[in-house]
Amino acid sequence: MKRRVAVVFGSRSVEHEVSIITAVQAMNTLDEERFEAVPVYVAKDGLWYTGSLLKTMDAFQDLGSIPSRAQRISLRPFSGRMTLSVESPRHGLAAHGVDTTPLGVDVALLCNHGTNGEDGTMQGMFELLGIPYTGAGVTGSALGMDKVLQKKVFLQAGIPVVPHVAFSRRAWLENPNDCLVLAEQHLRYPMFVKPANLGSSVGISRATDRETLRYAVDVASHFDRKLLVEQAVLNPREVNCAVLGNDNVVASACEEVFSTHAFLDYDAKYRVGYKASDRAVGVEKGEARHVPAELGEELTRRVQNLACQAFSALDCRGVARVDFLIDESQVVFVNEINTIPGALSYYLWEAAGMRYQDLLSRTIDLALEAFHDRKSNIVTYDVSDLLQLGSRGKSGSKNR
Ligand SMILES: Nc1ncnc2c1ncn2[C@@H]1O[C@H](COP(=O)(O)OP(=O)(O)O)[C@@H](O)[C@H]1O
Ligand SMILES: [Mg+2]
Repeated sequence: MKRRVAVVFGSRSVEHEVSIITAVQAMNTLDEERFEAVPVYVAKDGLWYTGSLLKTMDAFQDLGSIPSRAQRISLRPFSGRMTLSVESPRHGLAAHGVDTTPLGVDVALLCNHGTNGEDGTMQGMFELLGIPYTGAGVTGSALGMDKVLQKKVFLQAGIPVVPHVAFSRRAWLENPNDCLVLAEQHLRYPMFVKPANLGSSVGISRATDRETLRYAVDVASHFDRKLLVEQAVLNPREVNCAVLGNDNVVASACEEVFSTHAFLDYDAKYRVGYKASDRAVGVEKGEARHVPAELGEELTRRVQNLACQAFSALDCRGVARVDFLIDESQVVFVNEINTIPGALSYYLWEAAGMRYQDLLSRTIDLALEAFHDRKSNIVTYDVSDLLQLGSRGKSGSKNR
């Protein structure tokens, strides 16, 4: 029997639109012999929808019309296949309320990027719902989203990261000068200032002196309560490499990203004015990708090894993409991990000889494998079992 795959996407994230593209591509690529795609679209207001029209890009030309064209999904706090239900208005004479029909999905293919999807929240919900889901679990996803904690884990695992300092928004508001001095004591200009938990370069700026640093931290402080200042890698090569697996992992081909990221300088920002609601503050994006990256054998192997190490250090699963900065003397730094990479990084796997359809099948199989692995854990005890466990090895346990 075909497995019903909930393809989950959208959600309250600055990467909502990118997620739609990832999901529609995935739904149209899934192996139809094995799987049936069930769209699960989370709108920007957090309501959940399904309906076959959500399998095409056309449906998303006018996001405002989706509520009238798609069916609402309700969630029940049970565990198992029946927790997601489709709501339909009740017809007939005494028409009150809605009827619900179980959606009956076997596994969720998570295609959300950024907040409320890639950060452990969606993963936590699917844990509670008892539905297997692709990609990293709660911990890996949350660490993958937090640029500060992620670096701590990397350092502990001996994975190279750029010199950096971090402080809270509260510390910044109460003692801005202490924060600036902290950064200047540990780092050289230019520096990059980032909110700890966002993506798509939102709220990130480059600082070249104390004045621009102050401004950059101010900008970032609108986006998160945790702020990160990194030493800039000068003229970096930006290289990405994806990783696939659960306990045993493999690395994809590497890509080099040539960005025309123009990090707006201080003057430009003041000229254009700054609003907290601006989408891509600080960055104008334009990118070209080159797969495979021309790194030579040795550097390619170093990047691939570090990618696998970074993936495992954060306890990731399924597929993720690790992004690197390489400096002029070929020193490699792990910049960040994306636990639900754009387009699920299929192009890096195609370059390694794996079709997108096979990547999706493998990712779903890994989700099911991880789910069964977790199911074998003991999560509840009967008191009598506990007593038995206790009395097995210890005499006199009755007194305990
Ligand atoms: N320490 C750094 N040195 C040089 N460039 C950096 C540094 N940190 C970030 N960048 C530049 O900023 C971009 C966005 O930063 P990144 O940490 O990848 O955030 P995001 O989560 O928004 O992708 C990078 O792709 C790179 O071009
Ligand atoms: Mg990045």
